[in-house]
Amino acid sequence: MKYRKLGRTGFEVSEISHGLWGMSGWTGSNDEESRKALQLSADLGCNFFDTAWAYGEGKSDRLLGELLHKNRGRKLYAASKIPPKNRKWPASSSDALEDVFPAEHVLKYADCIRKNLGVERIDLLQFHVWDDSWAGNEMWMNTVRKLKAEGLIAAFGLSLNRWQPNNGIRALETGCVDTVQVIYNIFDQAPADELFPCCKKLDIGVIARVPLDEGSLGGKLTPTTTFPEGDWRARYFCSANLLPTLQRVDALKAITPPAMTLPEMALRFVLSSPQVSTTIVGMRKLENVRENLKVSDGRPLEPALLAGLRGHRWDRKAAPWSA
Ligand SMILES: NC(=O)c1ccc[n+]([C@@H]2O[C@H](COP(=O)([O-])OP(=O)(O)OC[C@H]3O[C@@H](n4cnc5c(N)ncnc54)[C@H](OP(=O)(O)O)[C@@H]3O)[C@@H](O)[C@H]2O)c1
Repeated sequence: MKYRKLGRTGFEVSEISHGLWGMSGWTGSNDEESRKALQLSADLGCNFFDTAWAYGEGKSDRLLGELLHKNRGRKLYAASKIPPKNRKWPASSSDALEDVFPAEHVLKYADCIRKNLGVERIDLLQFHVWDDSWAGNEMWMNTVRKLKAEGLIAAFGLSLNRWQPNNGIRALETGCVDTVQVIYNIFDQAPADELFPCCKKLDIGVIARVPLDEGSLGGKLTPTTTFPEGDWRARYFCSANLLPTLQRVDALKAITPPAMTLPEMALRFVLSSPQVSTTIVGMRKLENVRENLKVSDGRPLEPALLAGLRGHRWDRKAAPWSA
C-alpha cells in the first residue's frame, strides 16, 4: 500500500481507502461480512475509512468504531459526516444554511458521531451536502472553529453534491476547509477542470469517491441486472441509467489491457491524478478488498491508455435517480 498526504491535514493516508455506505443496512449487506472486510482492509494497509451518520442513522459509524477499538495500536483515520438537518440530498441554493447546518445541529451530531466511533476527537468531520451560496455565511465557519478549538475534530471537510464539482470552490477559498470529497472516476472527470487546481493552490486534500461509478466499473452488471427494492442501486441503475452506462462500460472493456481487470483500470485512472490523496471504494466483499487494495503499488497506467481513458469522460446532469 502506498500513502499520500491529505492536503494540509498532516495525515498520511492510504491511496485506497474504505467507504462504509454499503454497510448501512441496505440489502446485500451482512454485518459480519462488513466487519471482516474492514479488518482485512486494515490488515492490508488501508488506514482511511469514510462513513456518515446518515449511513444507517449511526450504524456505519458504530461498525467503524468497533474497528478502531479492535486496532487501538495502529493509526486508522476515521472520516464521518454531519447529515443535513432538513434531510435533503442534494442541497440547493433555495435551502437556507440555517435549515441545513445550524450550529446546535452540527454540535449535536458531532457528539453522536464521537460516541459511535468511540473517540474523543474525530479525525475528519465533513458536511454531507453543500451549496456554495452559503460560503460567506460566518455561521458554519464559527462552528468549525469551535469544534477545532475544543479539540472535537482534527480536520474539517466538505462532501460535494453529485456532479457539481465546482459547487464548493468559494467555501474552499475561505480557508476553513481542509479536505473535499468529490465524485471522480473514468466517467466523471470534471473535478480535474477547476476543483483540483484550486485544491492544489490551497493545499486541500482531495478524497475521490465513487471510483467505480457505484459498481458499473466493477464490470459485473448486465442489462438484466436488478436489485431488490430498498437497495440504493435499484434507483441508481434504473433502466434510464443502466443501459447507457453499460454501453460505455463495454467500450472500456474493449480497451482494458489483457493483464488488467476493469476495476483495476478504473482505480489506477483515479490514482493517476497527483491531486487525489485517496480514493474511497465501497467494499463489502472480501474478494473486492483483496483485489482493490493490490492496485496501490505505485505502477502508473501507460500514458497512451491514460490519454485514451480521458476520451471516456461523461458529463452528466442530476436526475431523479441520481440523488
Ligand atoms: N454524499 C456522499 O458523501 C457520498 C455519496 C456516495 C458515496 N460516498 C462515499 O464513497 C464511498 C464509495 O462509493 P460507493 O460505495 O457508493 O461506490 P463505488 O465505490 O464506486 O462502488 C461500490 C460498488 O462496487 C462494488 N465493487 C467494489 N470493488 C469491486 C471490484 N473489485 N469488482 C467489482 N465490483 C466491486 C461494491 O461491491 P460490494 O459492496 O458488494 O463489495 C459496491 O457495490 C462510499 O462507501 C461512501 O463512503 C459518499
